[in-house]
Amino acid sequence: MKGVVLAGGLGSRLYPLTHATNKHLLPVYDKPMVYYPIRTLVQAGINEVLIVTGGPHAGDFIGVLRNGKDLGLRHLEYAFQATEGGIADALSLCEDFADGGDIAVILGDNTTDADISASVKGFAGGAMVFLRQVPDPERFGVPVFDAQNQSRIIGIEEKPREPKSNYAVTGLYLYDNRVFEFIKTLEPSARGELEITDVNNAYIRLGSLKWAELKGFWSDAGTFESLFRSNVFWAQKSTGQAAEDFREYLT
Ligand code: DAU
Repeated sequence: MKGVVLAGGLGSRLYPLTHATNKHLLPVYDKPMVYYPIRTLVQAGINEVLIVTGGPHAGDFIGVLRNGKDLGLRHLEYAFQATEGGIADALSLCEDFADGGDIAVILGDNTTDADISASVKGFAGGAMVFLRQVPDPERFGVPVFDAQNQSRIIGIEEKPREPKSNYAVTGLYLYDNRVFEFIKTLEPSARGELEITDVNNAYIRLGSLKWAELKGFWSDAGTFESLFRSNVFWAQKSTGQAAEDFREYLT
């Protein structure tokens, strides 16, 4: 399976940091943010990747990632998203790269230490989303479960005011090639974007969406709080030190 990292958008929630460079190149402990989603794909056996980016700092990626060999990639491509048209709009730019095959998609600001290789290897078409329990589901796409059968998702609501579960749909997705046909049918949402949640709901309507719970750490890093949380987690994980040990840096 080939992989896609979506790293467009303006990162405006992180201004003024993102006046300096693209959000996905900001540091998460000792690495640029985008290294982490690439590593998740590489660990799942994916070594052909397309990065979709955009905005005023798109050129910065080449200097950081170069040809991807240092990260374990056999092939690295770049695509430019001309407007911040949403996650599904960014994904639509990957159709040629996918070349009729299945595709693993990860958002460039999502970091996780979960291993998705079994799901990638066992993928048998349709769509697969990865869920994670969170304290603030209203910030995410939130699954609605069938009241009769709690293992069945009957819909996903994007940033609902009153979430119907305490799960977030994380920014990791596996799709068969029909995803590109579904994207072509989408209309922009109230926030003016082509929503990945609408893509997932199209698969749900056909009974073709599966889900798995993501084990381990997962966070986005698109707000100051979540960027900070990601930094603390990866600092602890990389050094083996507990969060309290970092207090020494504050004195
Ligand atoms: O993090 C998981 C969440 O990501 C999901 O639960 C939501 O369903 C999904 O809509 C998304 O929510 P956000 O509103 O947090 O997404 P955001 O606009 O921050 O974009 C996340 C990443 O997607 C961003 O780091 C880069 C990529 N992106 C986003 C947009 C709007 C693009 O490549 N192009 C875009 O136009």
